[in-house]
Amino acid sequence: LPDPRPIGVFDSGIGGLTVLSALVKELPGEDTLYLGDTARVPYGTRSPETVLRYAQRVSNQLWHRGIKALVIACNTASTHALEQLKDVGHAAGIPVFGVIEPGVFAACRATKNQSVGILGTEATIRSERYQRLLANEGLAVKAIACPLFVALAEEGWADDPVAATVAARYLSSLKGGPDTVILGCTHYPLLRNAIGEALPGVTLVDSALATASAVATVLREQSLENARETGGTTRFLVTDNVERFQRVGRQFLGRAPEPVELIDLDSPAGLFAEEP
Ligand code: DGL
Repeated sequence: LPDPRPIGVFDSGIGGLTVLSALVKELPGEDTLYLGDTARVPYGTRSPETVLRYAQRVSNQLWHRGIKALVIACNTASTHALEQLKDVGHAAGIPVFGVIEPGVFAACRATKNQSVGILGTEATIRSERYQRLLANEGLAVKAIACPLFVALAEEGWADDPVAATVAARYLSSLKGGPDTVILGCTHYPLLRNAIGEALPGVTLVDSALATASAVATVLREQSLENARETGGTTRFLVTDNVERFQRVGRQFLGRAPEPVELIDLDSPAGLFAEEP
């Protein structure tokens, strides 16, 4: 039987809209429920324990609202919470996806010189999760944390000369090395031009696209698809600052996210009393 429940997608804030956007293109008939934890962003500078705690709280909120699949759009949260959230999902019969494995899989297929670069937040790179998965496939790996990319993307400077300068600075050590580089952070696909110019001839792997096709495959296999082919809708939940989410989110989604509801993960109901 078709399953009309929405797919839950969460991120530390705005960046996961790149994953949502890929998902909606891949599965236009599905409803989606996006939660951006804008009160606690960034996750990328925090400790593994804190990221796990935040990710558990956010996903609890989504489980309670009735979702049929959970996509951890944030690379940092996928790094530190995927196993734990998969266990919870498994017990409830809900598939849980992170963005890391699909990106690794795509990079393995793309590389010809068996050498792959990975770019991510400090927390993602420090955990060495990507590095381990890629090394297990027999690939040489170079990893670089690029924290300034997040700010550049949110500032709307992805195609400004300043982004090109920052990219050249971060990526100089990759020259002549990997032929494939994973954009291992939600924000980095926006800087694709600047990163590509700093690494001519290198294949850039967008894990958002890789994740969206993994979700589509599993929904099909598990008969969790919606009956509709098109016309799916998206609702947005944020934990802080609706105005900024809509303004900055436009660059990530191609339109202002709408409708957006402010929620409080600390209140017992998880909800603010909305003004009428
Ligand atoms: N969403 C995060 C990621 O993909 C980047 C922003 C943050 O640090 O929270 O790693």
